This record gives sequence, C-alpha cells and structure tokens, in this order.
Amino acid sequence: MVLFGALAALLLSFVYLDSVILIDQVTNAAIDAEIRALEEKYTELGIDGLREEIGERSNDAGVSGELYLLLAPDNSILAGNIGAWPQELDSDGTWLRFAISVPQRGAEATEHQVRAREFILPGKHRLLVGRDIEERLNFKRLIARALLWALSGTAALSLLSGLVLSRWLLARVNAISGTCAEIIAGNLAKRIPLSGRDDEFDRLSARLNDMLEQIERLTTGMRTAMDSISHDLRAPLTRLRSNIELTLLGEADVDVCRTALSAALAEVDRLLATFTLLLQIARAEAGIVPTDAMDLARLLEEIAELYEPVVEEQQMRLVSEIAGPALINGNRELLAQSLINLLENAIKFSPRGGVIRCALRLEGSRVCVEMADQGPGIAAQDRQQVLQRFVQLDSSRSTPGSGLGLSLVAAVAHLHHAQLVLADNQPGLRISLHFPALDERDAKDA
Ligand SMILES: Nc1ncnc2c1ncn2[C@@H]1O[C@H](COP(=O)(O)OP(=O)(O)O)[C@@H](O)[C@H]1O
Ligand SMILES: [Mg+2]
Repeated sequence: MVLFGALAALLLSFVYLDSVILIDQVTNAAIDAEIRALEEKYTELGIDGLREEIGERSNDAGVSGELYLLLAPDNSILAGNIGAWPQELDSDGTWLRFAISVPQRGAEATEHQVRAREFILPGKHRLLVGRDIEERLNFKRLIARALLWALSGTAALSLLSGLVLSRWLLARVNAISGTCAEIIAGNLAKRIPLSGRDDEFDRLSARLNDMLEQIERLTTGMRTAMDSISHDLRAPLTRLRSNIELTLLGEADVDVCRTALSAALAEVDRLLATFTLLLQIARAEAGIVPTDAMDLARLLEEIAELYEPVVEEQQMRLVSEIAGPALINGNRELLAQSLINLLENAIKFSPRGGVIRCALRLEGSRVCVEMADQGPGIAAQDRQQVLQRFVQLDSSRSTPGSGLGLSLVAAVAHLHHAQLVLADNQPGLRISLHFPALDERDAKDA
C-alpha cells in the first residue's frame, strides 16, 4: 500500500512538472517569435516602422496580455503599453520577470506577473516584449491544487483499502488458526468454515478440511483397531494364560499336558486369525493398501475351485456361474479374503444338501458378484448390524467365528467403491457386491 501511494505521488509530480514546463515553454516561444517578427520589421522599415507597428500592437494588446516597450538610446519612451522600464523581480540573463498593476473595472487595480525579454536593436534602441502570465500562473496553481487533492485522495483511499484488506485477510487467517487451535485442543471433528465465495481462502480451507477428514478417518480407524484389540483379544489371552497356569500348577502327566497344549495351540490360531482380520479391516478402512487392475472372475473361480472339496465334504453343492473376464481396480489379498469370508459363511449356515450359488456377471459398467445360500438368512432389521465388528446374531452364537468376517467385507467394499447389498434368497441369504468395472483402456493406463 505504501509502495502504491509512493508510486502515485511520483507519477502525479511528473504530471505537474511536465505541464508547468510546457506552459513556460509555450510562453517563451510566443515571446521569441514576436521579437523575431519585430526585428524583421525594424530591418525592413527602420525605427519609425517599428515604432508604428508597436503602437498598433499596443492598442489591441489588452485582450491577450501582450506587453511592449521601445526605448530610444537615451531611454526615452518611443512606443509601448508599459509606463516605464520595469523594476525586475527576477532575471536569469535572458528572461525577466516583473509585476505590473492592471486596472480592474469597478475595482482596485491588481498586480499581474509578467514574463519578458529584452532585445537591443542595432541602433542601441531597447525593445522589451512581454506577456502577462498571471492567468498561466493561476492555471499552474490550479493544477498544483488539483494534483494535491488527487494525491491526498489516492493516499487516503489506498490507506483505507489497505486497512480494510488487511483486516479482512487477518479475519480469514484467524478463522483458520482458530479452528486449528480447537483441533489441537482435541476437537478432531472441527472443520474450517467456508465463506461460500469460492475464493483462494475457501479453496485452501476446503483442502485443509479434506486433509482433516482423512486424518480423522485414519485416527478413528486406528483407535477402533486398538479398542478392538484391547477389548476382544484380552479375554481369550487371559483364558489362555489361566489354562496354561492351571496345567502347570496341577500334577499333570504327559497326556494331560499334550491335551492342554493342543487346546492352547487352537486358541492361539484363533487369536492370530482374529488379529489378521482386525489388521486387514483397519488397513481397508484407512485406505492404505495398493490397488491394481485385476480380473475378479479369475479370483472367484480360483476360490470356488479351492472350496469345492470343503463344500462336498459338508454334503452341499456349489454352483458357480462366473462370466469372465471382469477387470476391476482392486487389492487382490483383501478381495480374496472377503470372498472367502462370504463363502465360509454360506457353508457355515447352510443346511445339509443345501445349494450354494456363487455368480459373477457384468451389468453395464459394473461387475456384480453374488453369493447365495439356503440357510436361515438374515432378517432385514439385522442386515446393518451384522456388518459391525464382533457382531454375531443370537442364533449363531454357538457357531465358531469372531463376528469380523462381514466387517471386513464391508470395509473392503467401501475401499473399492463397491455397493454391498444383503437380500433374501427365499430361503437363505443373498449377498451381492457391485464393483465399478475397469475397461481395458483404463487397465493399460493403470
Ligand atoms: N450366510 C449367512 N446366513 C445367515 N446368517 C449369516 C450369514 N452370514 C453371516 N450371518 C450372520 O452374521 C453374523 C456375522 O457374520 P460374520 O461377520 O461373518 O461373523 P462370523 O462368521 O464370525 O460369525 C454371523 O454371526 C451370523 O449371525
Ligand atoms: Mg464369518
């Protein structure tokens, strides 16, 4: 702002000096031209001709303020409209400045400034040609005053706008730093308010809000994982510990020890499986896993093949209707685990002789995977709940499991922007996942 004011002042000073110099130059040129013309008259017609010319010019000079005085070598006045050789106010050798008194109609006479030049004719006659520059001086003063006003106006305006702008900037910056302070104080859900003007500050705030969103998602994921681990791994670990302690305290023979050890091994395996699932869920929810173009149909075929013997062993039938290839952008490990969870649930909850149908088809720009069984199904009101961590419905409390299988499926679906739908298979459960398909062009780019 100060810089802007200084520049404006500099510019206006240049305008002033330029116009003042121009006015002086115009006056000087007019006087010089007149002296030359009179000198020519003198050369042509001699002193009498010049005298007559000056007499004439003096008569009608009042209008434009031209002043003349012609003196004989003895300093007597020959012609002109000035009463006497003037008292100089100022002189730089060539140009003289003096004041004359100009009578005003119906008022007191006023002093006018005159700019003039003296010229000595060959016959020692002295010629004085001048101009009343009072009006020009007034004009100069007018310009000076106007420029001064303009300058002070500019200064005031730039000061004011600078003040307003800096207050506005400070207010916006304060809003951001205030929100940051609240977040640091522990309110992670706080977001920076947007003004709705869609300016740089709004864009910066929106970016920061996105960042906060991501940080909150990550910390929430981490906190839930920590909570889950501390709550749900604690009980089995304590059980495991007391079992080992009891065995050690008793006078156990080798067989009793073996039984206790294999029970402990089974418990540790379960713990490890739960632990792996919890970590996978946390990673899927945080979105910190690599994804790549992959054929979901191939993956489902492999899993179906792998589980075929398990299904048959349970005297059930696995029907797969897989139409491939079906490219999606995904994480192979998490998708495989999710599909296995669905298939294992279907096996776990299907009655003997039941049919499990596993299908994949392309629906427009979507890849749809479906797993349907003929078990008890899940009532509509429980379908949201079973997606939560460690939730097992009352009817399945007795079945082995951790209640984490569908939580992983939900997290992985979210990670892959897939829609997860639980429906009634009449009878049984039909779960479908709708992934955005990747066309081959995207797959090559990816
Ligand atoms: N195919 C299914 N048929 C009926 N109920 C199911 C089915 N799949 C899941 N459920 C219900 O949802 C609950 C949560 O499933 P899940 O998260 O896989 O945990 P888990 O299999 O360890 O019990 C199950 O305990 C069960 O009550
Ligand atoms: Mg399960």
